[in-house]
Amino acid sequence: MAQFRFQRCIRALCICTIYAIAHAAQAQVSTPMQTGEQIYKQTCIACHATGAANAPKFGDKKTWKPLIAEGQNILTAHAWVGVRGMPAQGGRADLSLEDFSKAVAYMARAADAAWQDPDAAMLKKIRQEVARRLSSLKNKS
Ligand code: HEC
Repeated sequence: MAQFRFQRCIRALCICTIYAIAHAAQAQVSTPMQTGEQIYKQTCIACHATGAANAPKFGDKKTWKPLIAEGQNILTAHAWVGVRGMPAQGGRADLSLEDFSKAVAYMARAADAAWQDPDAAMLKKIRQEVARRLSSLKNKS
């Protein structure tokens, strides 16, 4: 009798686990990865389409040239931390660094940079520069 109950319990546990896994997989499918273009259009476009408050305007190659020359890790990190009129993370606390970086790469490509969506190695370099930038900002104040 006890063994029968134990087996039933294990079976219920298995069904629960399978259900949870199936559910998690479905959740992943229903929230597809966002492209840099999508993030740009949701968030960055508000300022970068018009160049409001001196934001480097989308597709303006002359303005973007010296920024692109800073390098993908440096420029992305500084924008992520925030610089003058550029709010940290573009004002989106819910944005991941990876998604933000894709939006930066998308904007840079529109100004002729050969920047790809960041791979793991590039993301690591961006994170290092973010840490460096944050600690140098802290030391100044
Ligand atoms: C509220 C307006 C606003 C929004 C929204 C915004 N930006 Fe900016 N951004 C600015 C301004 C203003 C600057 C220029 C800052 C300066 O150099 O004075 C800037 C500068 C930048 C720069 C250049 C940084 C540098 O080091 O000079 C990058 C890259 C950038 N933004 C990326 C983004 C991305 C990516 C998004 C969306 C996720 C975004 N911005 C959303 C206003 C905005």
